[in-house]
Amino acid sequence: MSERAKVSVLSIWVIAGLALAALLAALAWKAERVSPASAPSAIGGPFHLTSQSGTQVDERILKGKWTAVYFGYTSCPDVCPTTLTNLAQAIDTLGTRARDLQVVFITVDPERDTPSRLAAYLSITSFPKRMIGLTGSPAQIAAAASAYRVYYKKAGAGPDYSVDHTSVVYLMNPDGRFSRPLSFDVPPAGVAKQIAEAMDGA
Ligand code: NI
Repeated sequence: MSERAKVSVLSIWVIAGLALAALLAALAWKAERVSPASAPSAIGGPFHLTSQSGTQVDERILKGKWTAVYFGYTSCPDVCPTTLTNLAQAIDTLGTRARDLQVVFITVDPERDTPSRLAAYLSITSFPKRMIGLTGSPAQIAAAASAYRVYYKKAGAGPDYSVDHTSVVYLMNPDGRFSRPLSFDVPPAGVAKQIAEAMDGA
């Protein structure tokens, strides 16, 4: 092949590559545009897990109540306990409307977080009352985390490893569908307001 022919073959590949990139970008943009209205919510979905009392549960536990869903783990040194304590304060501020809200804590550390360990952890007095704690096989937890767009990764070796994880509290509506994330950059009353507004459909 001549030098010139090589150059033109190369340009064909470059042009093909650019065209493909443009096509993928267009498809991604279209997917972004259609998802809120016509596609099912991007956050949430089916899961099959075990509660802290050993009961098998699935996404139907979200039906009929507003639910704050949080992924974390019982050995978490800082972020999880802080988030759960802040959430408890917000729920206290919510007053009687808190009756329509439940809290679901899903572990990202299924190896250590057995149902009994979850039960002990969720009884900490500064945390929300009557939380539902969920664990499962590593594959079940991975599927649930994926449905909720939660990232987690074991960090460190030995029995005292930690787990890096997304820390976001999702508010799901009584149909079990994603309503909004709760922002904790504000005092508890501000978090309670976000929940109340969602309940009011604001
Ligand atoms: Ni944590």
